[in-house]
Amino acid sequence: MSEFNYQGLFAERAPITTRGANRHAKYDFAVAYPDPDTLPLTGLVEALSTALEREGRDLAYYPVSAGYPPLRELVADKLRRDRQMDVTADDIILTSGSGEAINMLIQAMTDPGDVLLTEEYVYLGTMRQMRLWGANVVGVKCDDDGIIPEALDETIRAQEAAGRRVKFLYTIPTFQNPLGWTATLERRQRMLEVCQSHGVPILEDDCYVDLRFEGEDVTSISSMDDSGQVLYTGSMSKIIAPGVRMGYLVAPEMVRERALSFKSGGVNQFAALAIEEYLRNHMYDHIDEENQALRAKRDAMLAALGEHFGNRATWSKPEGGLYLWLTMPEGTDLAGFQDQSFSEGVGYYSGSMFSPEGNGRHMARLCFGHPTAQTVSDGIAELAAIFERNGIFQGK
Ligand SMILES: Cc1ncc(COP(=O)(O)O)c(C=O)c1O
Repeated sequence: MSEFNYQGLFAERAPITTRGANRHAKYDFAVAYPDPDTLPLTGLVEALSTALEREGRDLAYYPVSAGYPPLRELVADKLRRDRQMDVTADDIILTSGSGEAINMLIQAMTDPGDVLLTEEYVYLGTMRQMRLWGANVVGVKCDDDGIIPEALDETIRAQEAAGRRVKFLYTIPTFQNPLGWTATLERRQRMLEVCQSHGVPILEDDCYVDLRFEGEDVTSISSMDDSGQVLYTGSMSKIIAPGVRMGYLVAPEMVRERALSFKSGGVNQFAALAIEEYLRNHMYDHIDEENQALRAKRDAMLAALGEHFGNRATWSKPEGGLYLWLTMPEGTDLAGFQDQSFSEGVGYYSGSMFSPEGNGRHMARLCFGHPTAQTVSDGIAELAAIFERNGIFQGK
């Protein structure tokens, strides 16, 4: 199947990717997968069966473009209850994972050369899409409380002064990917104020919010705004599984309509039926169970880092989510060593992969969601041994 010559036929912006099968190291801390053992397989099978018996014949129709209405109702209830958002099912469209929602917004709002702001380290999938659509991705300085408001203000001013249009700020305020912190209430308010003063919309990506196993929830940025300036995305990937490909976008009608023009058809109704039936009966019990498992894994990673890395690195202690952030002394080249570490059995992603400017070569994200707690401990011990044998602790 490789004889026809497609050279010259591809769209200019179609990237050349070498995306092969997902490779996994023996100890895989690279990708943020959830816990496989608590996936609610039996519950999903039962839910699917119940829902199909009830309304499976409706699969003969194409789904409505905004997606299965009862699931949108369920999401609206959840957002009102858990995120204090004043929304109804009509404000929501279902998407194939929240990644699709984010991509649709990027496509609907970005012309080549436009500036899109992100935290100084940002989820790779979003950064890739932003660049694919010609955006100039600019990171804003953060500390452990979130985006620094003065830095945000300065960055917007600098871009405006250079004659560039800032189309929106993309933020992951809860269990930030990859840094792991949660923005404080005060920082959320200040972020919104700064964006309001410049007329810049915010895209709040809240996909990790339910994975809290410690501490108190912080209300959504969206709940602090009633003007529609804050767009919001969420996902079923973290509370059920990425494989179900279900997420959602909350946005004013004008934005939903434009975003929908980049989507073909509605979302998978078959999956939506099962998810709605399952979550309506089991959502919070399942989230509790999953979070208990994640907490044990996080604790295993913290303990193993304490034992094997000691004072040779520092790391974050996230209250939820799927990863922590490791910082080695400046000058350590975790970016350059990433492939070697992978081939010796431990996968991680270096900080520079998440930085629009390529910073953070001495930093790495370590995901603890997928391996068992024992594997997490063994893997960190192995990583320390690999660093030792290759001189990484000695600053190579
Ligand atoms: C911050 C963030 N947003 C969005 C996504 C996309 O997730 P999905 O499309 O599975 O909902 C991810 C995936 O890991 C993520 O980390």
